[in-house]
Amino acid sequence: MKKTSFLTLEKAKQIIEQIPTPFHIYDEAGIRRNAQALKAAFAWNPGFREYFAVKATPNPYILKLLGEEGCGCDCSSYTELLLAEAVGAVGKDIMFSSNVTPEKDMRKAVELGAYINLDDATHVEFLAEIAGDKMPDTVCLRYNPGGSFSLGNTIMDMPRDAKYGMTEDQMAGAINRLMALGVKNFGIHAFLASNTTTNEYYPELAAIMFRLAVRLRNATGCHISFVNLSGGVGVDYRPEQPCCDIAAIGEGVRQRYELILKPQGMDDIAIFTELGRYMLAPYGHLVSTVLHQKHIYREYVGLDACAADLMRPAMYGAYHHITVLGKENAILDHVYDVTGGLCENNDKFAIERSLPSIDIGDILVIHDTGAHGHSMGYNYNGKLRSAEVLLKEDGSFKLIRRAETPMDYFATLDMSEFALHD
Ligand SMILES: Cc1ncc(COP(=O)(O)O)c(C=O)c1O
Repeated sequence: MKKTSFLTLEKAKQIIEQIPTPFHIYDEAGIRRNAQALKAAFAWNPGFREYFAVKATPNPYILKLLGEEGCGCDCSSYTELLLAEAVGAVGKDIMFSSNVTPEKDMRKAVELGAYINLDDATHVEFLAEIAGDKMPDTVCLRYNPGGSFSLGNTIMDMPRDAKYGMTEDQMAGAINRLMALGVKNFGIHAFLASNTTTNEYYPELAAIMFRLAVRLRNATGCHISFVNLSGGVGVDYRPEQPCCDIAAIGEGVRQRYELILKPQGMDDIAIFTELGRYMLAPYGHLVSTVLHQKHIYREYVGLDACAADLMRPAMYGAYHHITVLGKENAILDHVYDVTGGLCENNDKFAIERSLPSIDIGDILVIHDTGAHGHSMGYNYNGKLRSAEVLLKEDGSFKLIRRAETPMDYFATLDMSEFALHD
C-alpha cells in the first residue's frame, strides 16, 4: 500500500517559514482518531484503559491530548513521573513500569499513588520499606515466562534472555507476601514481543496472562483486578507490510477473555495496555531539508537531520519510509543513500533507496517517527535536538518544543573558566 504523508508541500513551507527544519511534527487528528479506535476495540471491557508509554513521545502536549482521549501515562523513571504529574495525571492515571528502579523513583511513584508494576520479587520488600504505612491497595507484577515466545511457527522473542519480570513461582510468593502486607488487588503484566504486525500478538499474550491469572488466583486466593498487556503492537513501517487491525485485536482478546476468565468468575478483570509505537509512530514525521548531494561510488543526499534526531535506522537498521514533498507522484528512478551529517557511517536514513530525482533544498518527510523518535535523540558531534511541532486538527500548528541551541548543549558544563562566542 502506498504510504502518504499527512503534510503537503504547501503546509510544510508555511511551517518552515516560522520553524526551520529539521523538526518532528505530530498529527493531532490522526492521534485522536487512532486513540478512539483503540478504545472502541476494547469497549467490551468496562475497565479498559490505555496507559500511553511516555518514553515513546515524552512531550506534555502529546500526553495532554491523549489524556483528553482517556489515556493514562505509563512511566518508567522519576523524570517521566514528573512529566505525568505536570499534565495532571494523578493516582491511578499513572502506571509505573520500571526496572532496576532507584529509590527516588519508587518513592515518587508511591507519593503519586500510581499503579506500581514490580519488575522483580525482591522489589516487594523494597516497596514495603519505602511505602511504610502507605502501602498501595493494588500492586502489579511483571511476568517472564522464560523459554521462547512464538506465534504459530514464528519465534517472536526469547523471554528467557530478557532481563524483565519474574517467574510464576516468584509471582505467587510475591503475592502472598504482599497480601500479608495488606495489598488487596493485583495486576499482572508482560511484554513478550516488540513491534508485532500480526493481529495475534495481544490475543496470544492475553491467553497466557489469563491462564496465569487463574493459576495465581487458585494458588494464593488473591484478587486479580487487571491484566496489563503492555506495548508491542506494531506499525507498518514499510509500505508493503501488513498493518494491524485493532478491532480484530480487541475481538481476539475478548474471545480469550470469554473462554478463560469468564467460566472462572474472573470477568471483573480490567484490560490495560501500555502502547507507545501504535499510538504515535504513524502520526509523526521528521521533516528535513536536503543540504548537499554527493556523487562517489553511490549517490548521496545529505540532510539537515541526522541520527541524533532519529536513531532507529542507525541503531537497528530500521526502515523508515521517505516522501519527497511535491514529488509524491514522480517516478522512483533514482537510487540514493539518504544521510545525516554525523561522523558515523551508520548515519543513514535510507540505503540504496529508490526515490524520485532529488534537488538541494527539497523537503523530505521521514515517516513513522512519532514514537521512539525525538525521544531517543542525543547530542553526539554537538548536534542539537530538533524542535517538535503539533499540527492541529484545524490545520494550524504549534511549536511544542523548541529546537536546542548551543547554550542548551553547554548548560550542564561549568563554562566559567572558558569563553563562548555563539
Ligand atoms: C514497559 C514498557 N511498556 C510499554 C512500552 C511501549 O512499547 P511500544 O512502543 O512497542 O508499544 C515499552 C517499550 O519499551 C516498555 O518497555
